This record gives sequence, structure tokens and C-alpha cells, in this order.
Amino acid sequence: MEPYRRHVLVCTGGFCSPERGGRALYSLLAKLLEREDLLFGPDRVKRGETPCLGVCAGGPIVVVYPEGVWYAHVTPTLLERIVVEHLRDGRVVEEAVFHRLSDHDVT
Ligand code: FES
Repeated sequence: MEPYRRHVLVCTGGFCSPERGGRALYSLLAKLLEREDLLFGPDRVKRGETPCLGVCAGGPIVVVYPEGVWYAHVTPTLLERIVVEHLRDGRVVEEAVFHRLSDHDVT
């Protein structure tokens, strides 16, 4: 498998987001990654969906590794900011972060 720089997990479950907003976000994420040229090369991003991340509130929840940054209440607009600012430009969208697993620097 080709190496990748970041892994994005989208919760598509129905407990954190009763309307299952994560499903639409997961589809949108594919389009945004393609638009921002993040599907191949050194900044390649892998996306994944999960039925639950154990939070079960404040969704949809989106998590970015290796930074271990957890975003809550992700809308399509916020997802676009995450892709452009965090995944493409390396700047975490701080105001939407509710949890961090580690102190990894974003570069
Ligand atoms: S259903 Fe989304 S975190 Fe549990």
C-alpha cells in the first residue's frame, strides 16, 4: 500500500448525529480530498468511516491522525475548512477541536 500522511475517520453512526450526518460528510470528504489533490503523493490522506468512536454526542465527529485531533459538530462547511486548513495547509481548526490524544506537532 502507498504510504499516507494522515488518516481521517468519520463517524457515520446515529448516536452522535441522529440524522447520521456523518454519511454525507464521508461522501463529501472524498470529493474535497480529490479537489485539493490529497489523494496521491506525499500529502496523501486516507479516509475511513466507522459506526462509532465512543463519543456518541456532539456529532458528527471527525478525527485526524497522527495528530489525534478530534472535531465535533462537523458541518459540510467545517469539513471543507478541515480539509483545506488542516489536511492541506497543516493548521488545525482550533475552535472546532474538543479533544486531543497527543501533542504531535502539525507540520
Ligand atoms: S455514534 Fe458517533 S461517536 Fe458513537
